[in-house]
Amino acid sequence: MSTAQRGRAVMARFSLGLQSLDDETEPVELPVSGCLPEWLNGTLLRNGPAKFEAGATGFRHWFDGQAMVHRFAVDGGRVRYANRYLDTPSSRAVLTEGRIRYQEFATDPCRSLFARFFTPFQRARPANPNVNIARFGDRTVALTESPLPVEFAPDTLATVGVVEYDDRLGGQLTTAHPHQDPVTGDLVNYVTHFSRRSEYRVYRQRPDGTPRRELLGRHRVDEPAYMHSFAITSRHVVLVEFPLVVNPFRLLLSGRPFIENYRWKPERGTRFVVMDREGGQVRAVLRGPACFAFHHINAWEDGGRLFIDLCAYDDAAVIEALSLDSLRGGDALPQAMPTRFALEPEAGTVTAQPLAAESLELPRIAYRRHNGRPYRYAYGVGSRDRRTDDFFNQLVKLDVGDGGTLLWHEEGCYPGEPVFVAAPPGAGRDGAEDDGVVLAVVLRAATASSYLLALDARTFRELARAEVPHAVPFGFHGIFLREDRARDVG
Ligand code: CO
Repeated sequence: MSTAQRGRAVMARFSLGLQSLDDETEPVELPVSGCLPEWLNGTLLRNGPAKFEAGATGFRHWFDGQAMVHRFAVDGGRVRYANRYLDTPSSRAVLTEGRIRYQEFATDPCRSLFARFFTPFQRARPANPNVNIARFGDRTVALTESPLPVEFAPDTLATVGVVEYDDRLGGQLTTAHPHQDPVTGDLVNYVTHFSRRSEYRVYRQRPDGTPRRELLGRHRVDEPAYMHSFAITSRHVVLVEFPLVVNPFRLLLSGRPFIENYRWKPERGTRFVVMDREGGQVRAVLRGPACFAFHHINAWEDGGRLFIDLCAYDDAAVIEALSLDSLRGGDALPQAMPTRFALEPEAGTVTAQPLAAESLELPRIAYRRHNGRPYRYAYGVGSRDRRTDDFFNQLVKLDVGDGGTLLWHEEGCYPGEPVFVAAPPGAGRDGAEDDGVVLAVVLRAATASSYLLALDARTFRELARAEVPHAVPFGFHGIFLREDRARDVG
C-alpha cells in the first residue's frame, strides 16, 4: 500500500476488486442457484489484473496488475471454476522475486538511462497480457497492447508461451481488441510503428491461425494517438484518433512511464481515418469533436455513410481516474456515454449523437452475426444514475434503435463485462438478436466474494448464479468458447 493510500480516510467499498488475489484454484464445482439453460455448454475465459504489488512496491495503475485468467466451465447446468496467473517474464519477476522488471502501462521499473534509451524503438514491450483473450485458429491467446500474444491452454490455464509472428510487420504497440472481418473471417488489427516516420499499419491474419500478419494498409502520422480499439465495417477499417497523442521522441527520451508521455490536445478534434479494407487506401480523414474512448461498440455503413458507435468520454481524464490510488480512494470516476458518430466522407462531415441516457462501458454485442453490420442491442456495465462516486454497479442492455435500456443492479455488487452468448439454432426462441444469455462476474462487497451471473439477454432477468470461493479482482475482457471450441460464439 502506498503512502497516498494510507493517507485516505476511507477506502472505497469496491476496493476489494482492486486487491491482489494470491490463490490459484484447482478446478472446483461451484454451488449454483437458479437454472442455467440446457444448451449452455462451454467455457467462459476471463482475463484481468490480479497482482498489484511487487514486494514492497505497488503498481500505479489498474491496467498494470499482473495477468490472471479465470475459467468457468459450464456443462449440464453445472459450473466448474479455476484461476491461474499467466507465466510470463513479467509475472515471474513480480510473483517470485517481488520485483518490477518490465515497463507497464503506467509503471516503470528502475533502469539505467542506457537501457531506457535503447529499448523503446527497437522492440515491443515484454507482455503482461492482462486485457483480452482471443483465438488464433486453434490457439487461445491472452492479449495486451504489446504485440506479443501469450498462448495458454484453455483447459488447464497453463501458459504455453509467447506467439512469435512469422513476418516483418514491426510496430511496438497494438490493440487487445482485434476484429474478426465480417466478410472473410480474417483477424484484423493494427500496430503503431514509432520512428522518425511513425505510422499505423493495419493488418490481417488468416483464420487458420498461422501467426503471419499481412499488411492491409498504412497511414503516416507525426504524433500517434492512443487508441485502445478500432472499428470495422463490411468495406472499411476506421481508426478513430482521439486527441490524446504522443511525440515519439518523448516516448524514447522522457524516462516517464508509457501513458504519461501522451498529451491531451483537444484542438486537434477527433480524426476518423477511413481505410479501404481491400486496397488499403485511406479514403478520407474526417474531423469530429474532441472526445476520448477506450471501446468501440460497433460500426456499419449504409450507402456512402458510416456509423461508429463508441463509449465516449468528454476527455482523457478517465485514464488518471483509473489509477489505483484514485480508484481505491473513491475519487470521481468519469462516465462513458454511448455515442453514435455519423460520417459522410463525400461531404466531409461528422455528427455526434447520444444513444442513451445511461452510461456504458465494457460493451459487448451479438458479435458473430452483427459485427460490422446494423444491430440493435449492446450490453455493458454502467454507473447507477450516472453517479461518479462509485464503481461500475449495474449491467445495462441498450437498444441503440430507440435508446431504451434494461438494467440489472444489486446493492453493494459490482459487475464486470457482460459477455453475450447466442442460443444455438433450434435451442432458443426464434433466433432473435437477443436470443441468448449474458454472463458476467460480479463482486459482492458484503461477503468479500464473487459470483458468475447469468441473465436472460432478452428480459435481463436473472437465470442463475454460481458462487466463487473468493473475490475475483475486477477484470477487463473475456470470451465464451463453445464446447466444440470452434469459435467465440458471441
Ligand atoms: Co478493452
